[in-house]
Amino acid sequence: MANQSARAGALPMRGVAQPTRPHVLDLPDVHISRHPVVTHKLTALRDRNTPPPEFYRLVRELGTLLAYEATADLALIPVDIETPLEAMRGERLGGGVGIVPILRAGLGLADGFRQVLPDAQVWHLGLRRDEHTLEPIEYYNQLSRASNLQVCFSVDPMLATGGSAIDALHTLKRYGVPHLRYVGLIGAPYGVLKLRQAHPDVPIYLGAVDDHLDDRGYICPGLGDAGDRQFGTL
Ligand code: PRP
Ligand code: URA
Repeated sequence: MANQSARAGALPMRGVAQPTRPHVLDLPDVHISRHPVVTHKLTALRDRNTPPPEFYRLVRELGTLLAYEATADLALIPVDIETPLEAMRGERLGGGVGIVPILRAGLGLADGFRQVLPDAQVWHLGLRRDEHTLEPIEYYNQLSRASNLQVCFSVDPMLATGGSAIDALHTLKRYGVPHLRYVGLIGAPYGVLKLRQAHPDVPIYLGAVDDHLDDRGYICPGLGDAGDRQFGTL
């Protein structure tokens, strides 16, 4: 018991006041979706009665919707093409796109991103939170040094203490991956603030910001465990 409370005392969000929702909504370069279809699908996702196959499908669809939002300002370059009727100058995305799903839970989101960006390169990064300390532990890494990327999205549904997102972005920066953006479904105010402070240069895109973290580091009201609910390992 003594050990348990010593471990609990070490949790990152213990002993500090958690920031409020309005506080983080005003942070720079934090984009929270206002799209009613995103909210509608998030509500279905949060519902405890949503079974894993539907849960995965919803995560994928939300990935597609958030991909639209997080790519709205990408740069285009001119390209000359011929339609069946005549020549014209069109535009295509300038530079490649990278997607980094944070395993496991980022897989469904990455799947949704690929519906919009089928040519994107996908690099997998495996992180899991230690259940006692909540510190992220890396267990898989398929990153490579990328060049000519216009943007690279680190995708993971849950931004709780922020530890996983912060570590993932540090790793990507160590690999020299440029123009990073973070995309998630639900953030806790604590994790949003920590991520903003640790990587002020990385835009944050979320479907929603919730109220707080509970004592186990779960986002409330949240949706429970995003990895277990996608893959049926409850
Ligand atoms: C979840 C989630 C994030 C992390 C968020 O992954 O997908 O990666 O926790 O928590 P944090 O902001 O406190 O770091 P988890 O470690 O449960 O692994 P999983 O995706 O394999 O379920
Ligand atoms: N990871 C999850 O899957 N859910 C949470 O609420 C927090 C971390």
